[in-house]
Amino acid sequence: MPQKFYITTAIHYVNDLPHIGHMYENIVADVIARHRRRMGDEVWFLTGTDEHGQRIERSAARQGILPIELADRVVADHHRLWKKLNISNDDFIRTTEPRHRVGVHEIIRRMLERNPDDIYLGEFMGWYCPNDEAYYTEKEITDARCPNGHPLERAREQNYFFRLSHYQKRLLDFYKQHPNFVLPRTRFNEVVAFVEAGLKDLSVSRTSIQWGVPWPGNPDHIIYVWLDALTNYISALGFGSERHEKFDHFWPADLHLIGKDIIRFHAVYWPAFLMSAGVEPPKQIFGHGWWLRDNQKISKSVGNIVRPENIIDDFGSDPFRYFVLREMVFGQDQNYSDEAFVARYNADLANDLGNTMSRALKMSESYFGGKTPPTPCDDNDLLRASRELVPAYLQSMDEYAFQRALEVAWRLLAAVNGFIVAREPWKHFKQRGSDEALSRIIWNCLESLRIIWVMLAPFMPKLAQDALARLGGDGRIDRRALDWGGLPNNAPIRAGDPIFPRIEVATYIGGAMSNPPVETTQAAPPDLAKITIDQFKEIDLRVAEVRAAERVEKSKKLIKMIVFDGDGERTLVAGIATRYAPEELVGRKVVIVANLQPAKLMGIESNGMVLAASIDGEPSLLSVDTAVPAGTKVK
Ligand code: MSP
Repeated sequence: MPQKFYITTAIHYVNDLPHIGHMYENIVADVIARHRRRMGDEVWFLTGTDEHGQRIERSAARQGILPIELADRVVADHHRLWKKLNISNDDFIRTTEPRHRVGVHEIIRRMLERNPDDIYLGEFMGWYCPNDEAYYTEKEITDARCPNGHPLERAREQNYFFRLSHYQKRLLDFYKQHPNFVLPRTRFNEVVAFVEAGLKDLSVSRTSIQWGVPWPGNPDHIIYVWLDALTNYISALGFGSERHEKFDHFWPADLHLIGKDIIRFHAVYWPAFLMSAGVEPPKQIFGHGWWLRDNQKISKSVGNIVRPENIIDDFGSDPFRYFVLREMVFGQDQNYSDEAFVARYNADLANDLGNTMSRALKMSESYFGGKTPPTPCDDNDLLRASRELVPAYLQSMDEYAFQRALEVAWRLLAAVNGFIVAREPWKHFKQRGSDEALSRIIWNCLESLRIIWVMLAPFMPKLAQDALARLGGDGRIDRRALDWGGLPNNAPIRAGDPIFPRIEVATYIGGAMSNPPVETTQAAPPDLAKITIDQFKEIDLRVAEVRAAERVEKSKKLIKMIVFDGDGERTLVAGIATRYAPEELVGRKVVIVANLQPAKLMGIESNGMVLAASIDGEPSLLSVDTAVPAGTKVK
């Protein structure tokens, strides 16, 4: 009997387009879902969008559209992105769907029926965070800001309350009985400490939210957005409807995958709501870390959003999927940069994996007539390595230690390389031709590579299919495919073009790595420190006239310009080639920083900088009237 495995992501807010944090979460969930499927589980993988609440309302109002219009737009973007990233979710729930409303009404109905005292009308005064849509206690507040750094408002309201305080003991008992309820363990300890410190009742309705699910029986009140949001995990399965077979089969969830910022909602409030309604709590919650930029959480409210879609467009979704899982220790925080992607891509994928693949395949092509070698081998070092490493890999996958799982695959890869170096098949071929011993040597390498690609299949699903086809196998990636001996003999193979063509760092990033002149991924600046007027005056901003312009050879982004700054001519290099052709620049008046220290970009010394606004990474030059003479100061 296959085991059922129900995995969910957080449902993402629709006040803005998805960013790297959302991408990461869905990629991780997808890796887990794909792995469980190929291990034989019956997987149900849910993701979706959280469309109720003030932040969406406000965002839509700012754009002069209805919340649902904004939601539709962002949801379309989610679908597009999930397709691009090859996310294999089985369902997608929107909290504006009728099936969700049914589920929400049902959970409240059951709470009221089973525990009528759990919900009562009362008055509340406290520190409210409009961003998180949550109240915080005095202890959690610093400088009138919530733990996530957002400004707080003092709020008083008449509300329905959920008697969370009654659930302290039941929650603590539950945690004791389920010692792996929350991962990583440190987060679980924080949850337990929070509950042990005593629980306040929770306000579960709010009159201020105009757009949402009305409180049953009292349309003036709108239910607590988090109760609404959390219920998606069961409403998507048909909870409360006549067609609840999915709920009966898949609930409780095996894994709720979420970011660490929303653990309390999932590990404290959600089980308490479910206990009150007589529904079993989920089995496990994993709170992953944050993607940071300059050590700050990437988020809309900080204004440092990163959407590395250019990386995905240029190099494919699989290398990006590999990168995020290899770079971040699952559970911890990690800084993002395009440069780190390029470095890892070149080292791990182009160099280690790609080169070993083409080397082994090319040898087999030329020594065995374009086929896998005729003789298999079941007594050698690589076989021993793989017998030791496959269980380590499987254990890492079970423990959600993805970085370790990938390292294990790379250990087998290193063993293959060591084996090739030690056996020197090219010498063997020269001396003895394509004999049986050579057949065994090459077969061992290809067989190990096949196993490596089976390990990598959940991470890089598209490329794994391609690589396994090149290796002449049947493309299977199930549990048995991890056993030694699956590579057929005399099967046609294909070395083909490199799977991971090397990225020319200078060309792609646009200059020296230590001083990248062009941000390849758009990031809005974080809150900058204030400067004085005197500091500003130190910047020599002037109008300059472009006299000549040409593309920098081998660079996608750079243009070299000769500009006249009023005093004389100077050379500037600017990352604007994606938007401007050199011809259209000549004669144009631009604004430059004239007293910037010179920097070398692709071997050309740039004396100063041209100012441009950046819209989704697209530069738009600041310009002035052509009547303004070159050299005019800008202040
Ligand atoms: N709508 C709520 C979740 C309700 S679940 C019942 C929400 N939405 S969110 O859009 O803000 O975040 C969605 C998920 O992305 C959360 O798990 C959140 O932790 C995660 N991330 C948001 N920013 C992140 C990073 N910078 N890095 C990694 N993940 C982070 O919260």
